[in-house]
Amino acid sequence: MIAARITATGAYVPERKVTNDDLARVMDTSDEWIRSRTGIGSRHVAVGESTSHMAVKAAADVLSRSGCRAEDIQFIIVATGTPDHLFPNMACLVQEGIGASHAFCFDLNAACSGFLYSLSVAKGYIESGMYERGMVIGAETISKVVDWKERSTCVLFGDGAGAVIIEKGGRGIGSMVMGADGKGGEVLRCSSSSILCHDEESRRKIDYLHMDGQEVFRFAARQVPAVIEAVLEKEGLEPDQIGHYILHQANERIIASVARKMKEPMEKFPVNLDRYGNTSSASIPILLHELHQTGALKNGEKLILAGFGAGLTWGAAMVEWNI
Ligand code: COA
Repeated sequence: MIAARITATGAYVPERKVTNDDLARVMDTSDEWIRSRTGIGSRHVAVGESTSHMAVKAAADVLSRSGCRAEDIQFIIVATGTPDHLFPNMACLVQEGIGASHAFCFDLNAACSGFLYSLSVAKGYIESGMYERGMVIGAETISKVVDWKERSTCVLFGDGAGAVIIEKGGRGIGSMVMGADGKGGEVLRCSSSSILCHDEESRRKIDYLHMDGQEVFRFAARQVPAVIEAVLEKEGLEPDQIGHYILHQANERIIASVARKMKEPMEKFPVNLDRYGNTSSASIPILLHELHQTGALKNGEKLILAGFGAGLTWGAAMVEWNI
């Protein structure tokens, strides 16, 4: 059988860093509250930068670190819930931005699970023999859809983009399990899109992101271990055979709860949400990129990637690291 493999990683975050103390100067919150409830210390916020702009930067970054030329890329999938506009899609803007003239391009919205959903599509294209090489990007400007006067949500999120190249050949992306529960749609939703947020006047009218934080917490603490166990069972692996668990970076307490349920040490669950907050579909590829850059991932090591988010949606993959 043809296998699909991640062969390069890249990322981009906007320059503007906003710390918890910065937020505490403009709203009734504190570094202590945010850190103790979430683990977040700061986040990057796009100022004058759009989702497509960040997606292009992450795409250029991954390309420069890969052995591929832009024209070798056959498809581009951008996972995003915060596109700049309805069409053209963000992936077409990436194609234009990096000169990937032979790629077909589309966006995929599965909220914070978007990167894993997109990875599963890319894996399917390659394993079926339809295509040999593609790019998957997670890119978000969540800062445009949160109400900056609503302290219970705005402190949690950040902007950024992460990208991977997926190619045919070698051991790589193993079993994946995806799921959704549309009944849970109300617990995390945003009726208006970032498209409507161009100016102050329209921002006043938009329906910002709403979240029942405790319900989302319970959902993630229950569903993430279940989907990871489903992947491990498909692979015939025990939890201790996994080198690192790369989870969607929403809340350190959720990650710790998953670690406890898996009876695995927290050291195997890398965290970077202290510096980026929850970047939705970008969080897993940004974390993967950082871990790869620092040499934390060893070739041949087995990883679990797992995400969850609005929809409700979730997904997990076993990835054998082999760059
Ligand atoms: N700063 C200070 N106080 C805040 C605050 C902030 N930023 N946000 C909320 N509070 C207050 C609330 O008003 C409430 O005050 P009250 O008791 O006087 O009414 C108190 O803190 C507790 O609020 P609560 O919502 O019960 O806190 P919590 O312990 O459930 O933590 C979350 C809130 C959002 C951090 C937590 O529920 C969570 O992380 N959920 C998961 C969210 C998530 O991961 N979403 C993304 C999924 S992809």
